[in-house]
Amino acid sequence: MMTTRSIHRSSIETARLRLRPTSAADTKRASEIQSDWAVTRMLNNASYPPNENNIKDWFSSHQREWAEGSAYRFAIEQGERMIGVVDVDGIVGSAGSLGYWLEREAWGKGYAFEAAQALIGFVFNDAGLSSLESGHASDNTASGRVLTKLGFRQVGSRELFSRARCETIVQCFYVLERQMP
Ligand SMILES: CC(C)(COP(=O)(O)OP(=O)(O)OC[C@H]1O[C@@H](n2cnc3c(N)ncnc32)[C@H](O)[C@@H]1OP(=O)(O)O)[C@@H](O)C(=O)NCCC(=O)NCCS
Repeated sequence: MMTTRSIHRSSIETARLRLRPTSAADTKRASEIQSDWAVTRMLNNASYPPNENNIKDWFSSHQREWAEGSAYRFAIEQGERMIGVVDVDGIVGSAGSLGYWLEREAWGKGYAFEAAQALIGFVFNDAGLSSLESGHASDNTASGRVLTKLGFRQVGSRELFSRARCETIVQCFYVLERQMP
């Protein structure tokens, strides 16, 4: 019989960051961050320019997704400032998909790695997942570096429609398995 775990919706602290479960109040900041084409062009499902109503609808669904166990999404905070989002979504059984995006000012400081590493610990140790997939556009070298540092291995590439770019792109596709103790 399948049982649904009930996981407390609380924040995760890392050395330099706080991962806080997202809410509709994050809409404005997220729209600001996604107003930067350098950020949004790398996201598969985001539209450009960002549509605040759609973003609000998206954030408004996160509490329900968490309760269902279909996605765990966190705002990444540095001090008082929300600098991005890290999430695992598309959860079916014990597998999910990792994603992350940061405002440009926060790039190059190891924050994506630090946030994603903490979320991976949460989904593997607390949420019962045992495998993750992820991917990046073939021209997103920084994201490939983040995934490799996290222990992901590239297993292939595939064609995907990028809503932001309005064209088909090549996505490099990765997997990570939980290591048994
Ligand atoms: C991808 C992204 C999340 C990376 O965030 P970040 O906090 O800068 O990443 P980190 O600092 O943890 O690590 C970046 C790594 O990539 C390397 N890197 C950065 N830009 C690079 C480039 N153009 N070419 C090669 N390597 C690059 C860095 O040197 C670092 O590696 P190192 O630790 O070995 O030095 C950030 O650039 C971003 O939000 N981009 C827009 C949205 C996005 O691409 N999301 C992911 C979609 S798949």
